[in-house]
Amino acid sequence: MSAPVSPDREKWSSRLGFILAAAGSAIGLGSIWRFPYITGENGGGAFVLVYLLCVMAVGIPVMICEIAMGRHTQRNPLGCFRRLTPPASLLAHAVGTGLLLTAVALLCFSAWGWAATALCLGALVFWQSWRVVGLMGILAGFLILSYYSVIGGWAIAYMGKAAKAGLSFETVVEAQVAFKGFKENVGLVVFCHFLFMLLCTGIVYSGVQRGIERACTLMVPLLFIIMAILILRAVTLPGARAGVSFCFTPSFKELTGRSVLIALGHAFFTLSLGMGAMITYGSYLGRQDNIFAASVWITVLDTLVSVLACLMIFPAVFAMGFAPGEGPGLVFQVVPAVFHRLPAGILWGTLFFLLLSVAALASGISLLEVVTAYLVDERGWVRKRAALATGAVTFAMGCLTAVSLDDWKALPALEQLLVTGFGSARSSFFDMIDNLTCNWMLPLGGLFICLFVGWVWGTRHAVDEIRQGAGNFGDVHLFTLMAGLQEDSAHNAGTHPLTLASLWGVFVRFVCPVAILVTFLHAIGLIQVPPQAHDAVDDPPAARSAPHPASLPPSVVPQETSPQEPATR
Ligand code: PHE
Repeated sequence: MSAPVSPDREKWSSRLGFILAAAGSAIGLGSIWRFPYITGENGGGAFVLVYLLCVMAVGIPVMICEIAMGRHTQRNPLGCFRRLTPPASLLAHAVGTGLLLTAVALLCFSAWGWAATALCLGALVFWQSWRVVGLMGILAGFLILSYYSVIGGWAIAYMGKAAKAGLSFETVVEAQVAFKGFKENVGLVVFCHFLFMLLCTGIVYSGVQRGIERACTLMVPLLFIIMAILILRAVTLPGARAGVSFCFTPSFKELTGRSVLIALGHAFFTLSLGMGAMITYGSYLGRQDNIFAASVWITVLDTLVSVLACLMIFPAVFAMGFAPGEGPGLVFQVVPAVFHRLPAGILWGTLFFLLLSVAALASGISLLEVVTAYLVDERGWVRKRAALATGAVTFAMGCLTAVSLDDWKALPALEQLLVTGFGSARSSFFDMIDNLTCNWMLPLGGLFICLFVGWVWGTRHAVDEIRQGAGNFGDVHLFTLMAGLQEDSAHNAGTHPLTLASLWGVFVRFVCPVAILVTFLHAIGLIQVPPQAHDAVDDPPAARSAPHPASLPPSVVPQETSPQEPATR
């Protein structure tokens, strides 16, 4: 049941190229910026352990689903669902009916905005069936990139500032004031956002092999080299040991149910799952390549960078006497102050923000590629035109974020509309887009991808796709053996039903949907989990005395500002 292969469709030149490109998509601000501070806030080593579990139980299975769907159909997310959706799907009808009933219930409570949204979605599901999931992925790619590129622009700006010795802050408070001033300089923020989008567009414009693959083959190794240099510097500082043991000594008393959900939500964002980035990258993968091993490699590389990011930041933070639980300000506020205190601080600061810029860029191109691939596959546009148009529209959308980072002052009409329709608006446009994509679109996308592969396309067909090329990944043949995915192995003949392939099926059909659903309900505030234990009892003195930075948009991490509406990216 293999879909016809388009002979003129671009392909990765090698499986290493694919792994580096997909790892580049995964390794981004999520790994280098967010992972260290959520680790800092959730008990260090214990959180890292929980995160590893979430990645293995949910991250890898969902990634396998996405890559298998992409390679099987050789299409962008919408085209992929178009090809795999059966003429009639009971599950899609059930979801559509559920949405229409929800709309009626919401009307009874006069929740007009929510009712209209549920009604439109229900109608869309009846009309488009599972294709809605592909459409939602493309829209999510566009929306995430619109604000991701603004933060990528901050990293570029900070790299420039660091190189010109412009980040010489004695204290975190000084760094906070400077960061707030920087964000209020709309011209500079928009200019850096433009630079970031220009780089993304240029790479995607140049094609899959000549653009994305070549750029990632350069950027991903560069990331590891810069990280190695920074880690060496950090761990050899006097007093760094406390930071190292903070990363690796599990402190389970600070872990709560909420930390587990935060870890799971973060796994989704950081592995670029739930919106079709991996479907799109998988669609350029050759039939001879091993999907299972590639997914494991991508996850290992991303997780390695996340853990290394902690090892790069915390030893220096402890050595310089700062607190680990600084929240989202860790990277843009504490880190500059930490580097300023080091000898040759300019060099370390510049390298750090170069690392952040490169990581953001490699992720940004995967977001742009999702929309570009849609225009090329479904609308018949040539790649260059598709990349330029997508880049331009995303830049324009990002400008709205740039003028509305912390409040609605620049967009009062939109705020009014949201308040009228939905009862309240988030704290800013930035916050709204961030919440919509990370708390709603990615988890729902991931949930429906699992349900689709598990119950509609069927894990049997997916395993047929995964099995192609399963024996050709010599260097990780062990995984292939473990997976029981060989073409003609006795493991597949039913003699050993509990192979990793069947285990994967169980995870995709049952475990992942339930885990994602719980995380989603927590993210949108429908289920409440007690706040972090240490908030109430034994806060470590360093974290307790640290002022909480309020100068990043709360949107970026709503859970820090409002326990009722936590983001779980
Ligand atoms: N994984 C990227 C990060 O960690 C973000 C991303 C999300 C990229 C979704 C593509 C798709 O920053």
